[in-house]
Amino acid sequence: ALARAQASGNIGFKAIGLSTEDRLLLAQGYSANVVIRWGDPIARGARRFDLANWSARDQEAAFGYNCDYISYLPLPYGSANQNRALLWANHEYTNPELMFPGYSAGKPTKEQVDVELAAHGGSVVEVVRAADGSVEYLPVSQFNRRITALTPMELTGPAAGHPWLQTKADPTGRRVLGMLNNCAGGTTPWGTVLSAEENFNQYFAGNDGVSNETLKKIHARYGLPAKESGRRWEAFYDRFDLTKEPNEPFRHGWIVEIDPYDPTFTPKKRTALGRFKHEGAEISLAADGRVVAYMGDDERFEYMYKFVSKGRFNPADRKANLDLLDEGTLYVARLNPDGTGEWLPLVFGNGPLTAANGFASQAEVLINTRGAADLLGATKMDRPEDLERNPVTGLVYAVMTNNSRRTAAQVDRANPRPDNKDGHILEIMEEGNDAGATRFRWTLFLVCGDPKDPSTFFAGFDKTKVSPVATPDNITFDRAGNMWIATDGMDGSNLKSNDGIFAVPTQGPERGYVRQFMSAPRGAEVCGPIFTADGRTLFAGIQHPGEGGTLEKPLSLWPDGVGTARPSVVAIRKDDGGVIGT
Ligand code: FEO
Ligand code: CA
Ligand code: CA
Ligand code: CA
Repeated sequence: ALARAQASGNIGFKAIGLSTEDRLLLAQGYSANVVIRWGDPIARGARRFDLANWSARDQEAAFGYNCDYISYLPLPYGSANQNRALLWANHEYTNPELMFPGYSAGKPTKEQVDVELAAHGGSVVEVVRAADGSVEYLPVSQFNRRITALTPMELTGPAAGHPWLQTKADPTGRRVLGMLNNCAGGTTPWGTVLSAEENFNQYFAGNDGVSNETLKKIHARYGLPAKESGRRWEAFYDRFDLTKEPNEPFRHGWIVEIDPYDPTFTPKKRTALGRFKHEGAEISLAADGRVVAYMGDDERFEYMYKFVSKGRFNPADRKANLDLLDEGTLYVARLNPDGTGEWLPLVFGNGPLTAANGFASQAEVLINTRGAADLLGATKMDRPEDLERNPVTGLVYAVMTNNSRRTAAQVDRANPRPDNKDGHILEIMEEGNDAGATRFRWTLFLVCGDPKDPSTFFAGFDKTKVSPVATPDNITFDRAGNMWIATDGMDGSNLKSNDGIFAVPTQGPERGYVRQFMSAPRGAEVCGPIFTADGRTLFAGIQHPGEGGTLEKPLSLWPDGVGTARPSVVAIRKDDGGVIGT
């Protein structure tokens, strides 16, 4: 049995119910304010948002679209003050049908594509928290910064410079423009943000026309389109056309490290952490101080990974940590039916990872991480999203969002349901409760869905009391070690409702007692979530509100009720100023 290191704190709010209303609903006694929304200006002289007349130049000086991962970094660096901080948000992707009046699917104009390029990436904005707990951003700050799909970045680590990373525009294989589809992420103990490039495949076109069979096969393994892309950016930019630039996709699908405290910092794509559809990279420390990043590859039947650095975190010297993620070992998980598991090293020369099987170097293992993990016999999971260690207990939780393609013949103990529309969460205990271990034990924590469905499981808790929950995606932990779950896609689950946030103790007598805390507006998934260190503010990204509708027939006009829905970051507080959840 897994250790029960410490009881979680009791959760004090009364659960709300599922909703299909176009509103942000919270448990009684809580309020939220919109901190920043798509198009809000973040630079001196930037124009106010104007749906009818919005250019790439406007967008470059404004908050981007589809805010996903959120980080909250106190100012100044290392300060305990929670009232002034840098807020980071990923901008995963764009919904052009909700952004541009008269948008014609499959036939964007160059002006629209340029706005989309500028609306991807991430934002840094300075924020202040007022006495009433509400949070506002500063439209002008020396720290405010947009990172886009065009921002110059550096490729670092073992794969940097490899011929597969070289293009006509970059013969060095070390300089790349921008990041794409940045979903979740992580925050390092040295105050940098990790931003995960996820579904980068959708930006590229034309794998059928790639003449090099090796490259074509790897691209196919990563789901690159045989012909045109859905977004059609290739119509205006050759780098998205594989027939013209077959190596450009190898320069995406990485974990990107950004220092929000340094507005001049060149973002670094850390190739040592592998290339796949990265959901996030949540950080913990091994017992000996090495840095561990837990990572999911979010696609049906893909794998769970972790990276362990060679060097150790130095709390006394920030600079000494800044390149720790360039050297270390990448592992992929195998889960055995008896509840044990192993982290298998993705190291060139190890077992089948040799030239005879198509891997000529460690760089190739990292560029074609999926192919290498296939050879090692890793366990195929139901879409691994967040993997995150509970800072109170040390147990690691791995979120499987759903997999409706798993058949009855493909069911195993770690992925226990066919046609898994509702998702599940695994609990992992590293050997010796050490994040640096290479062996672990695992069990099921939640099997989500309608509690009346006999296939569901809530860690053994009384199913007549729990809130229905499905399609878990990103998780975080409060100061007592309770898990907070943000969902993505409950409208397509068996629950057919809006997404939301749910809290669940992981220890103690209420372990498994899931309670719904928040419900999002229509069409939105919920991202973040993340607490301030004092537990008094919970940030969440309300991503793609109104998705499924159009500008002409909107599904949502949240948050302002006019024009179009706007993806936004919200700050949630307890009305009495107390710690959230208590
Ligand atoms: Fe962008 Fe895996 O969710
Ligand atoms: Ca996600
Ligand atoms: Ca998380
Ligand atoms: Ca998701």
